[in-house]
Amino acid sequence: MYKYVNNVISITREIMLEKVKIGNVVVDATAGNGHDTLLLAKLVGQEGKVYGFDIQESAIKNTNQKLIENKLAERVYLIQDSHENIDKYIDERTDLVIFNLGYLPGGNHSIVTKAKSTTIAIEKSLNLLKENGLLVITTYVGHEEGKTEEKYVKEYLSNLDQKEFNVLKFEFINQINNPPILYCVEKNKL
Ligand SMILES: C[S@@+](CC[C@H](N)C(=O)[O-])C[C@H]1O[C@@H](n2cnc3c(N)ncnc32)[C@H](O)[C@@H]1O
Repeated sequence: MYKYVNNVISITREIMLEKVKIGNVVVDATAGNGHDTLLLAKLVGQEGKVYGFDIQESAIKNTNQKLIENKLAERVYLIQDSHENIDKYIDERTDLVIFNLGYLPGGNHSIVTKAKSTTIAIEKSLNLLKENGLLVITTYVGHEEGKTEEKYVKEYLSNLDQKEFNVLKFEFINQINNPPILYCVEKNKL
């Protein structure tokens, strides 16, 4: 059971704490300021591996700096490219892929994830997942691009074959100001 269910960030964190094990291969598809990448790097241990993507140089630099300060940089591969090219960089199965969409808080709000590239990246990430692997996606509907993106993401995930994937949506239906929405997609054993 989750300790708190008041926001999707804490739920996401608890999912990572529960799911990610020593030796896992995981992906942060939107590294941003590196909070999720850092947690993942701690959780996979010395034998594990983290791939972190972001299109912004400053995000990659900030994330790298956090990892260096925590002496965890050697288990993380940071890639300055769009997550839609994930298959160019990763040719192994992954245990978890996380997307925290939208713009970087405190950064340039005009640099946002986009519906089309996000959907391509989600499709490729699902292909890379191991059986029982998990995809975790947070969408933000408080800005225009985010509303479109949420529509695309929901449409794409709703049409996944239930024999192959379990798709769960977390949504705060009584909160004001467009709270973020969280999706978890588990790849079934075939
Ligand atoms: C909400 S922030 C991520 C926050 C991050 N998870 C953290 O813990 O700080 C979204 C990030 O997605 C990045 N981004 C936007 N489009 C992208 C793309 N096509 N591929 C990879 N990253 C992208 C932005 O540059 C931004 O840093």
